[in-house]
Amino acid sequence: MLAIIGGSGLTRLSSLEIVRREVVRTPYGEPSGALIFGELANKPVVFLPRHGYGHTIPPHQVNYRANIWALKQAKATGIVSVASVGGIRTEFKPGTLVIPDQIIDYTWGRVGTFFEGGGDQPVQHIDFTHPYDRALRERILIAAKACQQTVFDGGVYATTQGPRLETAAEITRLERDGADLVGMTGMPEAALARELGLPYAAINVIANYAAGRGDSEQRIEFEQIEVVLQEAMARVRQLLGRICQD
Ligand code: HPA
Repeated sequence: MLAIIGGSGLTRLSSLEIVRREVVRTPYGEPSGALIFGELANKPVVFLPRHGYGHTIPPHQVNYRANIWALKQAKATGIVSVASVGGIRTEFKPGTLVIPDQIIDYTWGRVGTFFEGGGDQPVQHIDFTHPYDRALRERILIAAKACQQTVFDGGVYATTQGPRLETAAEITRLERDGADLVGMTGMPEAALARELGLPYAAINVIANYAAGRGDSEQRIEFEQIEVVLQEAMARVRQLLGRICQD
């Protein structure tokens, strides 16, 4: 059963046939909301909105550990994360869908591991060379082709702390570091999924040009983001249906 974590613009999956809701408690506290079990394209899925059903939890306060743990406990076999981002690379115009293949983590102060040490547990490390699951990425790309949706294959996702957006100079620095897109929630989510052995991949929706780029040269217009996300999330919903079908 696939899990979908919805981000800004996707707190609900209208095409989901809801079967049941489950409030889950974890050793790490409460997830962002009740898990919604249902069917998409007649296949079982579990859905969780990252920022809560009322979109009230900011990126730095999401309980990433509880979310990932709850999905593992629910017997999810993989996680597709949907998240809106800013586009740094020129081709990444608002409305573009990107399946990223790399991450740079600029967040701080977030609890980023299940392996806290202490007691007599040996120290554990994970391999994170390729942070997104290859097979799950491939499945998304094949599904996109099958439903004739244009998605970009690959991109370096920079995770910033938020909740404020970046300065133009910060975006220039991220670009120098090799980042193509910027969001606030990719980490530690991806690493925690890897720690629990859950395949994880992302669909990133470019909501706006990053600060200082394109039409965000002077400022980032929030009303415009709403419009972009509303249209793009309709495509994401269709893509998710196709992913489940395969
Ligand atoms: N920066 C960081 N996160 C974002 C952005 C952005 O420009 N747009 C949407 N999420």
